[in-house]
Amino acid sequence: ALAPRLAGAQAAYPNRPITMIIPFAAGGPTDVVARLCAEVMGRDLGQTIVVENVGGAGGTLGAQRVAQARPDGYTILCHHIGMGTTPSLYRRLAYDAVNGFETIGLITEVPMTIIAKKDFPANNLAELVKVLKERGHGVNLANAGVGAASHICGLLFQSAIQTQLTTVPYRGTAPAMTDLMGGTVDVMCDQTTNTTQAIQAGSVKAFAVTTSTRNAALPSLPTAAEAGLPGFEVSVWHGLYAPKGTDAAITSRLSKALQVALADDRLKTRFAELGTAPVSADQATPEFHRRYWQADIAKWRPIIQAAGQYAD
Ligand code: MLT
Repeated sequence: ALAPRLAGAQAAYPNRPITMIIPFAAGGPTDVVARLCAEVMGRDLGQTIVVENVGGAGGTLGAQRVAQARPDGYTILCHHIGMGTTPSLYRRLAYDAVNGFETIGLITEVPMTIIAKKDFPANNLAELVKVLKERGHGVNLANAGVGAASHICGLLFQSAIQTQLTTVPYRGTAPAMTDLMGGTVDVMCDQTTNTTQAIQAGSVKAFAVTTSTRNAALPSLPTAAEAGLPGFEVSVWHGLYAPKGTDAAITSRLSKALQVALADDRLKTRFAELGTAPVSADQATPEFHRRYWQADIAKWRPIIQAAGQYAD
């Protein structure tokens, strides 16, 4: 009885469009990664993957939508490091943030950059830190809500410089970047997938990249260590999820389509232009992703508890 059902699910799946929830506003770094994957995965699966931005609450509203969706393979989630941090940051979520999902595979790991509005009075990281220490809460730090990558990087940055700034949350860092370029917010920690073009165009100032080596898309940007913040490293990993209880045959089929996407030349070129690269095929599997995700939750728990900064 089971075999025909599984075979039936596997043979028929997918027989209609799939929805991919992006838990942040359109145009931001999560959106860029998700849409590039969805386009190639849809071709491999022979069905359109419809992407839907469900922003708010640092990505937890979008995650909740998928956690509560039918586990039939037709609603999936593209999310990032927030799946590692939100189980500790939020103490009253309406879904199981630790076990409420099946994993499909990792996608990419994206470096972050420390940036400021063009006319901010600092021209290197040491000068930026000096002004931030002087002004403190007089400086507006933009992010995409508690649990966003921009939030956790901002948290680490403020503790590294031992200064609290005023946080201005958005539904994603695309709208935040608009205000940064308009000068109504001052600084932000955001992923190269969203900042590379603005930095290259000179629309914002950049001070450091948060990886141990420089980024090929931004070769003149010093690492945080070179610029005076040794050990300040944050990379934003991304992965795909399905609701808990989704058949392994379905998550395995989605993982195969993901691996096709990560091998796609156009996707690889676009990722490289934006300062990142796909993970290797063995990391784009449900098993590797699950281990990585659970280890990340365990990694962030003591850090977040020590910071004592919760969402509620
Ligand atoms: C984040 O900070 O988590 C992302 O930038 C959110 C987004 O993709 O807009």
